[in-house]
Amino acid sequence: MTSQANTRASIQQVSKQYGQHWAVRELNLVLKPGELFAFLGPNGAGKTTTIKLLCGLLRPTVGTIEVDGYNLATQGLQARAAMSYVPDLPFCYEHLTAREFLELAADLHGMDKQLAAQRMDEVIRLFELEKFIDQLTERFSHGMRQRTVFAAAMLPEPKLLITDEPTVGLDPRSVRQLKDILRNHTSKGNTVFLSSHSLDVVEQLADRIGIILGGKLIGCGTLEELRSQASHNGPLEDVFLKLTQTEEQRAGVDGP
Ligand SMILES: Nc1ncnc2c1ncn2[C@@H]1O[C@H](COP(=O)(O)OP(=O)(O)OP(=O)(O)O)[C@@H](O)[C@H]1O
Ligand SMILES: [Mg+2]
Repeated sequence: MTSQANTRASIQQVSKQYGQHWAVRELNLVLKPGELFAFLGPNGAGKTTTIKLLCGLLRPTVGTIEVDGYNLATQGLQARAAMSYVPDLPFCYEHLTAREFLELAADLHGMDKQLAAQRMDEVIRLFELEKFIDQLTERFSHGMRQRTVFAAAMLPEPKLLITDEPTVGLDPRSVRQLKDILRNHTSKGNTVFLSSHSLDVVEQLADRIGIILGGKLIGCGTLEELRSQASHNGPLEDVFLKLTQTEEQRAGVDGP
């Protein structure tokens, strides 16, 4: 363990190359306990790549990532024990019911049986899975699947929850519930790292925001700090567009 008490995860000088293309370039980011950090950027900017690097699904070409004080490359088991990940396309094993899927998740997290049973009751209530908890997930709509995968991710009360575009495809009530759940999670000292194109959700939820463009972090801070960087006092949407357009003009960055 090398990191400091006020650090939940750190991304240090991380770059990721796919073939000849650098999808993430010299990224430095520190995530703190109790904060909700939102990652924004246009299509192809490098958000999902960064998220997969942080979860350990991809290895950085260059650089170091630490989670909960553990180096993801050399102490992967300990680092991964502190986190849960909800991908942009939620995946459930089709031949399991939602309840069996949650039981599998509890086993994979090595949870004690009694604690797992108690937490299962809690997440089933929290994500309102009661009506379909004993159905096979193969019949689930996108939103039902998303809520089931989220419930599985929240079972162990992860210190770091990582989620890629969590509100896509959720109905307004589910979005509202998810926002409350994420806020409640950080209020207990846990960290949430999410990517999103829903700037209104980010504006309401995020403690800090990072903006990535062409694999480079072009802005990072509170909404107030980003407003000051953009010299613009409006909503996040305007601030985001101004910062990305200015940077595109400056650097001549191409799209995906
Ligand atoms: N497996 C891969 N092989 C090669 N290139 C990839 C791969 N995955 C992503 N890329 C490229 O890396 C860049 C970043 O992609 P990434 O998926 O991280 O973007 P994103 O910010 O999540 O975009 P979106 O908002 O569309 O989800 C893009 O140029 C993409 O084409
Ligand atoms: Mg993506």
